[in-house]
Amino acid sequence: MVEYRYPNDLPSGSLPNTAPIGLFDSGLGGLTVLRELYRQAPQESVIYFGDTARLPYGTKSPAEILQYVREILTWMTQQGVKMVIMACNTSSALALEAVRSEFNLPILGLILPGARAAVQQGKRIGVIATPATVKSQAYERAIAEVDAAAQVWQVGCPEFVPLIEDNRIEDPYTSAVAQNYLQPLIDQNIDTLIYGCTHYPHLAPVLRRILPPSVRLVDPAVHVIAAAAQELDLLGLSNVRSPQPTRFCVSGCPTTFNRLATQWLGYTPIAEQIELPPVAAPVSMEVVEQ
Ligand code: DGL
Repeated sequence: MVEYRYPNDLPSGSLPNTAPIGLFDSGLGGLTVLRELYRQAPQESVIYFGDTARLPYGTKSPAEILQYVREILTWMTQQGVKMVIMACNTSSALALEAVRSEFNLPILGLILPGARAAVQQGKRIGVIATPATVKSQAYERAIAEVDAAAQVWQVGCPEFVPLIEDNRIEDPYTSAVAQNYLQPLIDQNIDTLIYGCTHYPHLAPVLRRILPPSVRLVDPAVHVIAAAAQELDLLGLSNVRSPQPTRFCVSGCPTTFNRLATQWLGYTPIAEQIELPPVAAPVSMEVVEQ
């Protein structure tokens, strides 16, 4: 079920179904969503953008995140994408509602698909996410909306993204940090845990060793990609031809991204460094910043 509306009708005929889907994240996290897209919708072409010069997003202010997302969406639209999937929970939590009314194309976020999937798994739900996502309470609200009886405990995990981006997954320090973050959730006897940040599925082996085996892990990526495929189908925009190779773009160092992404993708990407177009901050946002 897709419940949002575009600000205007999609301009008919102007979006070929061979156009790519835009996927973005602050860095490597969105690769967990890309991996799911390759699995569920392998016929689609993709432009992946990692805002590596400005990561992590999870400790930035809501106004900064909204501004970054506006710039990325402006650039994505210039690239001719037919849909954008926010492969970033922080952006989905803080910017999705605002940008949906500003851009005339389907934009999907992770929070509602993740919340829906979680309440089907359990009633004592833990969420691990960036500090910005936790503070927004987006998951709490979404879960309450779909099942008022479900209980939610959230933990902000500021150390995870830098550890993953530094490729320290198997470092004993990462395990100790994870134990610290998960213990309060284990103490609450959660039955379900949402990966509330797209970087975190990269930590699956570490988290699995700490969590009781009965806890079910929910990866919102699985569900946002299912929703995207359904939406493309409804709009008559599914690609029926062979896909183009994925185009990778970053705002920071392409070599670092290529090296780190290789282990997650199983092939070496050739990322280009791009500059996002400047986008003026709306007046209301400038007031917030003063
Ligand atoms: N992977 C993103 C998320 O899902 C952003 C993490 C970050 O840059 O802090 O929230």
